[in-house]
Amino acid sequence: MKSKVRISGTVKVPGDKSISHRAVLLSAIAEGESHIRGFLNAGDTLSTVGMVRALGVEVRQESGTVLRVAGRGLKGLSEPEDVIDAGNSGTTMRIGAGILAAQPFMSIVTGDPYLRRRPMKRIVEPLVKMGAAISGRKGGTLPPLCIRGGNLSGIRHEMTVASAQVKSSILLAGLFAEGPTTVVEPLPSRDHTERMLSAMGAKIASSGNEKTVDPAARLRPISIDIPGDISSAAFFMVLAASVPGAHLLLDGVGVNPLRTGLINVLRRMGAEIQLEALRMEGLEPVADIEVQGFDLTGTEIFPEEIPGLIDEVPALCVAAALAEGRTVIRGAGELRVKESDRIGAMASALASLGVRCGEYPDGIWIEGPSRIVSGARCDSKGDHRIAMALSVLSAAAGVPIALADTACIDTSYPGFRGTLEGILE
Ligand code: S3P
Repeated sequence: MKSKVRISGTVKVPGDKSISHRAVLLSAIAEGESHIRGFLNAGDTLSTVGMVRALGVEVRQESGTVLRVAGRGLKGLSEPEDVIDAGNSGTTMRIGAGILAAQPFMSIVTGDPYLRRRPMKRIVEPLVKMGAAISGRKGGTLPPLCIRGGNLSGIRHEMTVASAQVKSSILLAGLFAEGPTTVVEPLPSRDHTERMLSAMGAKIASSGNEKTVDPAARLRPISIDIPGDISSAAFFMVLAASVPGAHLLLDGVGVNPLRTGLINVLRRMGAEIQLEALRMEGLEPVADIEVQGFDLTGTEIFPEEIPGLIDEVPALCVAAALAEGRTVIRGAGELRVKESDRIGAMASALASLGVRCGEYPDGIWIEGPSRIVSGARCDSKGDHRIAMALSVLSAAAGVPIALADTACIDTSYPGFRGTLEGILE
């Protein structure tokens, strides 16, 4: 099909959100000054900076993306004077809680209305088992959380869902514990914490889906270049992939193999995607991603593929709406407890845009190619990834969408709108 939309150019996406959070949290407990370049200067990651500052850590933001963090060592944090606000960031609250659980003081962590609805039992239970005292609303399952750190003991914890936040939270608590701490995941999730801990001198071992950390005496500071965020690049990958004749280069994107599920799926649907200049930048593999668009066909996404593209599902739904035939995504029940219920949010937005689709408890089916209703009203539900996915659908289809609440995009990608406008010819 010849498209009326033309897309070309080069895009440089901002720094990886997951790695930015970890770089700040781990630098805060390292001994000495860490230097972070390519930091994601956005709402979520600034919440993490706020958290470590509240714990007495000096963070100098030399420019938007360059930070110096004066680590206080494993035992040098101080009791926050006030409630810590994690904003919209589940990563700040969950991974941060792993460190707070080991401190000899009390911290209270809250968040915005969306974060206060997200499940915390998955971290509270194991951290309490290790020896921390944690309470929260609804029997300790919802924020705010009040954490009184304790002397922790290592545990072996079998997780029921694959979650890098839960895994990281427990591994960080394990640094402070007596004896080794092991987490077992049903499927492998992103391993940025493990890579960074190991670079900072912690002893961390991997065997299948099991990760074991030993108690640490100290962490070395790091000097780190953070690659572009593949979860931000995803929106442009989908846009270019779905528009026949489109050609886009995404410069310097992290391609950790536990994060590249979307590339495999888009190739399966018929897009041409090349990883150019594949290299290691510090701890992570990085590439320039070249995407060429074609008429796509629907595909099936299986449960074991989900952890590798968990944050990319809203974008993938857009590719599905524009592809020929049915796309089925299953095993993605976790999406119902993200910044919004992303299955419900995408299904209701797509339905109001005239796309045939339906929900499963753990997924969604979408049938394309759809003629997108011009000017239809849709709601991002305050979720940055829903807002960006619908913006991309509007651009790919070449029709306006009346999208409520786009300010949330700043959570992970300030500048998204300008970049999008820059590649539309
Ligand atoms: C993240 C892990 C994922 C992901 C989130 C960021 C991280 O969440 O959805 O956006 O940085 O560890 P889960 O750990 O809940 O899978």
